[in-house]
Amino acid sequence: MGEDIVKSSDNPDAQRQFRTALSMFATGVAVITAPRKNRPPIGITVASFNSVSLDPPLILFSVDRRNLSLPDLSAVGTYAVNVLDEAQQDVSNRFAKANTDKWADMPGVPNERADVVLLPNSLATFECESYAQYDGGDHVIFVGRVNKYQSRSEGRPLVFFGGRYHTLNGAHQPSA
Ligand SMILES: Cc1cc2nc3c(=O)[nH]c(=O)nc-3n(C[C@H](O)[C@H](O)[C@H](O)COP(=O)(O)O)c2cc1C
Repeated sequence: MGEDIVKSSDNPDAQRQFRTALSMFATGVAVITAPRKNRPPIGITVASFNSVSLDPPLILFSVDRRNLSLPDLSAVGTYAVNVLDEAQQDVSNRFAKANTDKWADMPGVPNERADVVLLPNSLATFECESYAQYDGGDHVIFVGRVNKYQSRSEGRPLVFFGGRYHTLNGAHQPSA
């Protein structure tokens, strides 16, 4: 069974089917964070995070052009990617809600350094400088150069698949 994509923007059913097919690719979940002057930091939940290059160390993610944080994110020189643990579904939901005070009563947040915002209990964090931004249709593709990272030696990821959260059963510990 195949579906031709003609112009899915003209056809909501076709767009939904396309999204459903794309959702068959399981991903982790990450939150992109960056401090802002005189305003709460940027925080955007993304499933589009991926690795790009080892040398130089590059990662990518894509941001919907409708996202309110996009102009600020496009302008910042540095941001962090926080890879979520399976226990952080509430954190994922918190940073997926536009037009809310995403940081209200957020436990344990940070600001030991003014230039970076790292979410506690993340599985891994990558501190990046903006390397490139590309047109990605209705999204903007951000490529970041990783300057610093840390990762936990144990823990299991929050997984997004088929439009729902999942957890890994019997996951192996990451190899050293
Ligand atoms: C699991 C999950 C994955 C998401 N992945 C993305 C993504 O890759 N890119 C994106 O732009 N929005 C993604 N979203 C939606 C954004 O998180 C949401 O639109 C954003 O927080 C809006 O924030 P803003 O309008 O304040 O910028 C995702 C949401 C969820 C729940």
